[in-house]
Amino acid sequence: MRVTAIANPKGGTGKTTTAVNLAASAALQGLRILLIDMDKQGSATQWLDHSPDSDLLVRALLGDVEPESIVVKTSVEGLELIPASVAVQSEQVTSEPGNQFLLREMLAKMAPRDWVILDAPGDLGPITIMTLTAATDVVVPVPAGAMELDEVPKIQATIAKVQARLNPGLTMAGVLLTQVRTYGQHTSVLAREVGEQLRVDFPAHQVLSTVIRDDMRFREAPAARQPLAVYDPGGKGDQDYRAALAELTDREVINVGA
Ligand SMILES: Nc1ncnc2c1ncn2[C@@H]1O[C@H](COP(=O)(O)OP(=O)(O)O)[C@@H](O)[C@H]1O
Ligand SMILES: [Mg+2]
Repeated sequence: MRVTAIANPKGGTGKTTTAVNLAASAALQGLRILLIDMDKQGSATQWLDHSPDSDLLVRALLGDVEPESIVVKTSVEGLELIPASVAVQSEQVTSEPGNQFLLREMLAKMAPRDWVILDAPGDLGPITIMTLTAATDVVVPVPAGAMELDEVPKIQATIAKVQARLNPGLTMAGVLLTQVRTYGQHTSVLAREVGEQLRVDFPAHQVLSTVIRDDMRFREAPAARQPLAVYDPGGKGDQDYRAALAELTDREVINVGA
């Protein structure tokens, strides 16, 4: 089963936006999708019109409740969600021996879906490691701002360590440039420069050719509790995530070291 982690150690890089909108676009195309909100802040959960709970996900991770029993439906047909738990980063979880493997073990108990998407928190703490350990591949969203590349070496190093020590099968699905300013047909100079730098920092083929444009509707849609594909069907954001989805499901997932 394909399990894609959306990860970047920095907050505000577009992880949740990417997780929710890729998941919704895929579900609208008829795939059975499960989104798991691994971030205790619960932004993806709220966007999909649910509330983070105190500890259901923790209990499922620790094997105390059946994971299928904590899955909820969303307003998008085919898109299921495991809501965030506020306590996910608690010592109960992080002090568990082999805690890195808890999410992978939980997924192994679940019915197969077409695609599981994991929204990771914005740090390199134990939950991000657990998320990468459960994943078959990872998407790294990077916003096209001047300061956004600082964290790139950190996520690369972390992915390489997880691959070496915990999850040898982990592959890089792609780096996704987001919040790209456009002027008519033209992309901002900054976004082009960041794109070029990413192709230096990562093997060029690991950078997706789709980019997500800056679109204020991404800031409105969470309050409306609708993914972009429902809030603004056919708009820029919907188009861009559909293109990213096509590229991510089309291309062969690439080895991190390749
Ligand atoms: N393509 C985009 N255009 C405009 N704003 C965006 C875009 N992608 C993300 N944002 C905004 O950037 C902020 C951070 O995005 P979010 O997905 O929550 O990041 P993360 O999950 O990495 O913390 C949010 O306010 C979101 O609305
Ligand atoms: Mg987030």
